[in-house]
Amino acid sequence: MSPRRRARPAGVEGGLAPVVAAVPAADAIAPVDNLSGSAAVRPSALEMESVVLRHRDGTDEVVALDGIDLTVGSGELVVVIGPSGSGKSSLLAVAGALLRPTSGTVRIAGTDLGGLRRRELAALRRDRIGFVFQTGGLFPSLTAVEQLLLVAEVSGQKPAPLRERAEQLLRDVGLGARLGHRPDQLSGGERQRVAVARALMGRPALLLADEPTASLDRARSAEMVELLSEQTHRHGAATVLVTHDPDGLSHADRVLTLVDGRLTGA
Ligand SMILES: Nc1ncnc2c1ncn2[C@@H]1O[C@H](COP(=O)(O)OP(=O)(O)O)[C@@H](O)[C@H]1O
Ligand SMILES: [Mg+2]
Repeated sequence: MSPRRRARPAGVEGGLAPVVAAVPAADAIAPVDNLSGSAAVRPSALEMESVVLRHRDGTDEVVALDGIDLTVGSGELVVVIGPSGSGKSSLLAVAGALLRPTSGTVRIAGTDLGGLRRRELAALRRDRIGFVFQTGGLFPSLTAVEQLLLVAEVSGQKPAPLRERAEQLLRDVGLGARLGHRPDQLSGGERQRVAVARALMGRPALLLADEPTASLDRARSAEMVELLSEQTHRHGAATVLVTHDPDGLSHADRVLTLVDGRLTGA
């Protein structure tokens, strides 16, 4: 890719649809197999080195990420706290292979994203990354279990074991009594729990949560961070939660601060 192309305002690579995909695919890119290898040198789930992201807005240029160095290990919950406009969503977009950085290196489970084509990035998002967004992004007409099964069924996986896994994940997040409920029959906190369970369905190496507590009250916010901590430790994903909300920080393994695109406390 030419430097000129890298410098343009980056678009969402491959569209948003693959980010809700949660099904391990047969054509998962090869280096991912390192994860199941021996205990030898196992790459960190997420490594970002000297990452810069500039957005171009007409003639103006905004430096959204200004030299990010961040490594997150499997089973670790890192909370990044920063005010509005500090670069939180930009950080997750780059870590989640949705945007290419202007410069710097991003590796997921040892795979350098800089060397991947759009289709390979989409496959990596589908196979290795789970996303949780501010408002959950659930489908209004589907039950909790169906939210988890949707992508699996669309991609032709056998439904029976997947249904068991979906139900188990929902029980794990405290929704055993809500399996057949639709979003309008769930509270805001319960909807976010479904979103977390759905993000875990594909056994992601990396779990990225962008202000998942934005619509919740303080007590529910702290519970959501606690839940992400429990699920991170249980499933061994590397989790990055970005937020402007100080509730529940004690549940993080590490807390970093983002100001003007720069991380401190690493
Ligand atoms: N697509 C874009 N085009 C131009 N500027 C952008 C774009 N996306 C984000 N920005 C700018 O980049 C900075 C960081 O934004 P963002 O990552 O959304 O921060 P946060 O999620 O912490 O609110 C802000 O100054 C924002 O206005
Ligand atoms: Mg944001």
